Amino acid sequence: MSQAEQLMQVAKEAREHAYAPYSRFHVGSAVLDADGTISPGCNVENAGFSPTICAERVALTGAFARGHQNPVAIAVMTDPGVTPCGVCRQVMLELGPDMTVYIGDGEGNIRSTTVRELLPGSFSKDDLTFPIPK
Ligand code: THU
Repeated sequence: MSQAEQLMQVAKEAREHAYAPYSRFHVGSAVLDADGTISPGCNVENAGFSPTICAERVALTGAFARGHQNPVAIAVMTDPGVTPCGVCRQVMLELGPDMTVYIGDGEGNIRSTTVRELLPGSFSKDDLTFPIPK
């Protein structure tokens, strides 16, 4: 099994845990760190709607919370094979700007892209005009 397939398998399993009673759109994700750790994520919705969090951000923030802060790849798995939303792209740019992004669908297809390809012309921490505290 390739690295992409392995990561997608974890994303597929994580999708089983999606809490999506409103949209019923189930999303799974998985982040691979440079240390080899894989962190899963699923979307978690809320009756207030805006507190809903996407699978990709759950996977990424979960990895960071466990100390795995060098993400090299992220997989996202849905039936139709959608690409990450704008908010997730911005978070990916901050936390894993050099990540490969694998997009999987329900038929087992995997497409590969990058964070930079998904968010061209972005605003990032390099644009800040005030010093970033250490
Ligand atoms: N969603 C994700 O988790 N990731 C995506 O890439 C697209 C959208 C979630 C948010 C919400 O729970 C549901 O899918 C419908 O938008």
